[in-house]
Amino acid sequence: MRSALLSLALLPSLAYAGLFTADSMVKMLDAKSFKQAMKANQTSLVAFVAPWCGHCQRLVPEFSKAALGLHPLLPFYAVDCDDDKNKRLCADQGVKGFPTVKVFPRGNSLPPMTYEGAERSASAFYYYATRRIHKPKSFLKIYQPEDLVPWIEKRADAMRTLLMTNDKKTPLLWEVLANKYEGQLEFGIHRDRQGKGYTAIGMEPVGKKESKVLVYPPGSTTPFIYEGLNKFDSLSKFYDGILDGSVDITVINAEAKKEEYEPSEEELDIERKQEAQRMALLHGGYAEMIDFEAALKKGDAASFHDTHGFGSAPLKKKVNEEAPKAEESKAAEPAQESEPAKAAEAESATEAVSATEEATVEATETPAPEAHVGKDEAEL
Ligand SMILES: *[C@@H]1O[C@H](CO)[C@@H](O)[C@H](O)[C@H]1NC(C)=O
Repeated sequence: MRSALLSLALLPSLAYAGLFTADSMVKMLDAKSFKQAMKANQTSLVAFVAPWCGHCQRLVPEFSKAALGLHPLLPFYAVDCDDDKNKRLCADQGVKGFPTVKVFPRGNSLPPMTYEGAERSASAFYYYATRRIHKPKSFLKIYQPEDLVPWIEKRADAMRTLLMTNDKKTPLLWEVLANKYEGQLEFGIHRDRQGKGYTAIGMEPVGKKESKVLVYPPGSTTPFIYEGLNKFDSLSKFYDGILDGSVDITVINAEAKKEEYEPSEEELDIERKQEAQRMALLHGGYAEMIDFEAALKKGDAASFHDTHGFGSAPLKKKVNEEAPKAEESKAAEPAQESEPAKAAEAESATEAVSATEEATVEATETPAPEAHVGKDEAEL
């Protein structure tokens, strides 16, 4: 065993491999692409990492699962702060230890917040990200049917869009769009019960279960019913088109109606992975996830995954000679690693690698059901 560890120690590149790879939904950014990514009015999560840091290596699968679950609504990124060309960016972002996870609620137009949670699990990141989507002041949940017309008339000068839905919860996709189009579109949402909302706005109820997106062009109180797919890309294209104003809205809507759902091979692959993750979740702990919401409210979230037997459990479940040692060294490590710890880390990194390898094996045997999957969230 000792000789195996020694030979690993001689191969630092091996120990450093396996931060976010091409098949992860977490995109590695450098200073230049970071700047570009922050131009989008989107909520995103960014992990500032260093390849030699054991905590960063353990973060990778969890952060990747949350990223998969939230694709394509909330992008997840990572920055390698060990790379010389990113050092300035990491310093500007006030990164002092690794990993540092930050949420940017609306690209570079709002200040970021640092994730302070002790739990670095997929579901912790998932909930953290979804709860920090910037909500524009103009975003309104309209509860009563009789409040619909006043909402439509209040900002008659603006382009308004209203979601008529059966959902109790505001769909994540609607929040993401409201954030993206703040200042350009007024967003409303109404939970329509038995068509009363439609009656209140002088329309025949459209579909019972289906969510419908209505659009009121400036100056108009007669809506267009959006005919395209209730997906992020399709709706973004539609809104971009009507905001551009150079083509008539009926033409844009007709184009949207014609659009067939033809995902690329890459997108299909992502959907398959999301489905697999969702199945694992249904199989292993959907009810637990609902309890997780309650645990968050009570403040018990940090220990939730340990007490419920998933999350970071694969490392602990594996009972063999090495495991307790790995645990000890993990417990002794600070929650973050700073630059001066680098030399010491080089030694313990070998321990971390063997533990990580076991965790990977374990994880492929029993997929850990930590994260929601975007499918339910990504559509209206
Ligand atoms: C971001 O939102 C602002 C309005 O708050 C808008 O002026 C700008 O064009 C948007 N940027 C992008 C890239 O959509």
